[in-house]
Amino acid sequence: MKKVQSLVLVAIFFYIAYKEPVNGQPRKDCQTRCGNVTVEYPFGTSPGCYYAGDPNFHLTCKETGKLLFGGIDVINISHSGELRVMDKISYACYDKQGDLSVKSSYSYTLGSLSLSQKNKFNVVGCNALALLTTIGQQNYSTGCVSTCNSPSTVNGGDCNGAGCCRTDVSVPSDSYDSFEIYPSRLENMTSVHDFNPCTYAFLAEIGTFHFEGVGDLKNLRNVTDFPLVLDWSIGNQNCEQVGNRSICGMKNSTCFNSTRGTGYNCKCLDGYEGNPYLSNKHGCQDVNECTTNSTINKHNCSDPSTCRNKVGGFYCKCQSGYRLDTTTMSCKHKDYEWATILLGTTIGFLSILLVSSCVKQKRKHRKMTELQQKFFQQNGGGILVRRLSRPGTSNANIQIFTDESMKEATNGYEESRILGQGGQGTVYKGILPDDSVIAIKKARLGGDSSQVEQFINEVLVLSQINHRNVVKLLGCCLETEVPLLIYEFINSGTLSDHLHGFLFGPSLTWEQRLRIAVEIAGTLAYLHSSASIPIIHRDVKTANILLDENLTAKVADFGASRLIPMDKEQLTTMVQGTPGYLDPEYYNTGLLNEKSDVYSFGVVLMELLTGQKALCFERPLQPKHLVSYIVSAMKENRLHEVIDKKVIDEDNWKEIEEAARVAMECTRVTGEERPLMTEVAAKLEGLRVTKNKHQWSDQYPGQTENLVGVHIISAQGGSSTIGYDSIKNVARLHTSKLDADIY
Ligand SMILES: *[C@@H]1O[C@H](CO)[C@@H](O)[C@H](O)[C@H]1NC(C)=O
Ligand SMILES: *[C@@H]1O[C@H](CO)[C@@H](O)[C@H](O)[C@H]1NC(C)=O
Ligand SMILES: *[C@@H]1O[C@H](CO)[C@@H](O)[C@H](O)[C@H]1NC(C)=O
Ligand SMILES: *[C@@H]1O[C@H](CO)[C@@H](O)[C@H](O)[C@H]1NC(C)=O
Ligand SMILES: *[C@@H]1O[C@H](CO)[C@@H](O)[C@H](O)[C@H]1NC(C)=O
Ligand SMILES: *[C@@H]1O[C@H](CO)[C@@H](O)[C@H](O)[C@H]1NC(C)=O
Ligand SMILES: *[C@@H]1O[C@H](CO)[C@@H](O)[C@H](O)[C@H]1NC(C)=O
Ligand SMILES: *[C@@H]1O[C@H](CO)[C@@H](O)[C@H](O)[C@H]1NC(C)=O
Ligand SMILES: *[C@@H]1O[C@H](CO)[C@@H](O)[C@H](O)[C@H]1NC(C)=O
Ligand SMILES: *[C@@H]1O[C@H](CO)[C@@H](O)[C@H](O)[C@H]1NC(C)=O
Repeated sequence: MKKVQSLVLVAIFFYIAYKEPVNGQPRKDCQTRCGNVTVEYPFGTSPGCYYAGDPNFHLTCKETGKLLFGGIDVINISHSGELRVMDKISYACYDKQGDLSVKSSYSYTLGSLSLSQKNKFNVVGCNALALLTTIGQQNYSTGCVSTCNSPSTVNGGDCNGAGCCRTDVSVPSDSYDSFEIYPSRLENMTSVHDFNPCTYAFLAEIGTFHFEGVGDLKNLRNVTDFPLVLDWSIGNQNCEQVGNRSICGMKNSTCFNSTRGTGYNCKCLDGYEGNPYLSNKHGCQDVNECTTNSTINKHNCSDPSTCRNKVGGFYCKCQSGYRLDTTTMSCKHKDYEWATILLGTTIGFLSILLVSSCVKQKRKHRKMTELQQKFFQQNGGGILVRRLSRPGTSNANIQIFTDESMKEATNGYEESRILGQGGQGTVYKGILPDDSVIAIKKARLGGDSSQVEQFINEVLVLSQINHRNVVKLLGCCLETEVPLLIYEFINSGTLSDHLHGFLFGPSLTWEQRLRIAVEIAGTLAYLHSSASIPIIHRDVKTANILLDENLTAKVADFGASRLIPMDKEQLTTMVQGTPGYLDPEYYNTGLLNEKSDVYSFGVVLMELLTGQKALCFERPLQPKHLVSYIVSAMKENRLHEVIDKKVIDEDNWKEIEEAARVAMECTRVTGEERPLMTEVAAKLEGLRVTKNKHQWSDQYPGQTENLVGVHIISAQGGSSTIGYDSIKNVARLHTSKLDADIY
């Protein structure tokens, strides 16, 4: 009974002691160190501490602190399937006579373990031969031969067959459970005995044995043993076959097929370390990659202080407001980043905008220039340029202005720059970069090409008129849709303003009026006869006579002017002119000659005499038309009634009467009965000369001749380029002409 009890107790004890923990886990009280070596599962030094499926994992720990695998010293156990042991050198020594004196030949039992490919079989000696034989189901032998005749032929370092040879161990791992090493000799070694008494043979991990030549040949026995690597794995099934019956730890451990071909091993997942065969706290544990203990950083955060461990890995934590840049593993300021992104996008956007606007601008500019070119050609620019380059037009001093310069001069055709607006277009005051003031007139021009040619001719002709009483045409601008004519700027208004307006101070004296009349008459005479090509003004009226600051008359507005062809006395044109000034004969017949200007001048002279407008509807019971008004007054001998009271004084009545007579002659209904302009000019000048002889010659030293003498037009041969009507399609008879239409 007692025996049974004790048996049960023993059984219970053995059960507890040998109870295989779940999933083959070792006991908790297993020895983990033996001397300097850490003993780790699946190896163990006592039952329940090593992998029960294979007794080869049972190691022995001697009291001296030596851990033994079989009889071999264990120096290292690696989870990945390696066991390092110390391998002793086998040797065979011979005496002087050549007889074997000492022999030490080892054989090791490996069990399920096998020789690693990391080892080499080394043989040292002259005339030496050694074999490595594996013993199992079938015996394999490998080995090598080393020879040498004298120490001088032996070089240290190389293990090339002279004093030392080595070979791989490539025997199938499951074909043996032990091996033996046989050192021997090729022949009688007496000749080499002095420097190599023994043959040495041993297995060693690659890189642990360096052949040092003659010294090693003499006595390699005294050299410490060499590490030898043995491969181990669990069972003979691979991971797939073993499935979840593997002994790998439960946590973060994984199975891998053994490199030696049979069985499996375990390893921790990335980011974990520990014993992959254990499920407890010594099993795979998260690696704290952020510890600074190790000299090699396990993390790759550029700033170690930003490293944060996490289960199975780490991350680099940036301060708030910073963001991790994963390419450089460094922190970037978010705001800065945003700013950069924002800046980047803004810059990108802006540059796109800039480029596109540049392109647009360029296109616009090109379009603009194209348009300008088109207008230039349309407005006869080409013709003008050709004409100017012809010989004979050298005295045509005409400037061609650009669209831009005109825009600049008028401040973009600003409203405040408008000098006048009327039937003939708009006149702007312009200021050129050199501060000179100009008047810019938008000319009226129809589309057809003959008109263009005529317009250009007119521009050329007018530009050649260089008379002190004619408003000078400086140039033109043809790049605009409506061509621009650029004139000198006359600043004191029109004669009409002075006579009828209230703009300018004291009214003109008789002397001034007579002088102005003379100036106008002289100018018209010059135009009719003296200019290079005779010109009919066609729109002589007080509104078209400008006065400068000295009240010198300047005839303006040749917009309706006609150049008279040399071979034609008269030409039929569309009637145009201003009511009140219009020659009735021309009006009735449409036949134009210079006498039409004479008629208009007569009306202007009458205006100067009377201070009345050419057409006045405020004269009750009197003719509305100034000519009829004066004619009737003359007939009724009451001229003094109609003459401007402001001009009459005791001395000038005769002159006034004479001037009135001239005006009457000028306004005769029949053109033929009217005097020539030269005659009129001479007559009026006569009045002035008698009155103030010296003044005249002082004032007009050079022009007296032209004006006084009757100047006959020299026949120059009709040119096809003359004889046109610049605005023949514009009948302005019915239009109410604005006084502001000054040019
Ligand atoms: C342990 O290692 C030290 C130094 O590496 C050595 O001196 C000592 O002999 C070793 N002990 C054993 C038991 O191997
Ligand atoms: C095994 O040896 C290697 C170097 O040979 C060493 O790094 C490792 O710590 C050793 N392992 C054990 C368990 O002693
Ligand atoms: C292998 O060698 C051992 C010992 O040397 C021997 O006992 C065994 O019979 C040999 N086996 C074969 C198959 O030759
Ligand atoms: C070796 O050679 C020497 C002389 O060459 C000879 O005397 C000796 O007997 C030989 N030894 C053996 C074991 O053959
Ligand atoms: C080698 O060891 C032996 C004894 O084991 C000793 O007699 C011999 O002198 C040693 N040789 C050298 C070179 O240390
Ligand atoms: C793994 O083990 C579980 C129980 O622990 C079982 O239900 C499952 O079928 C097993 N899987 C394999 C592939 O063996
Ligand atoms: C590692 O083990 C822990 C604890 O069991 C678990 O929470 C974690 O998910 C495991 N990691 C992986 C990658 O399986
Ligand atoms: C192990 O080897 C088997 C057979 O070669 C293979 O099917 C399996 O995928 C391998 N397992 C691993 C984890 O490599
Ligand atoms: C880091 O090293 C110190 C001492 O050098 C040690 O106390 C500490 O446990 C180590 N930390 C880790 C995580 O290994
Ligand atoms: C940093 O380490 C992580 C994980 O260890 C890896 O995915 C990443 O590519 C590494 N980055 C750099 C820049 O080395």
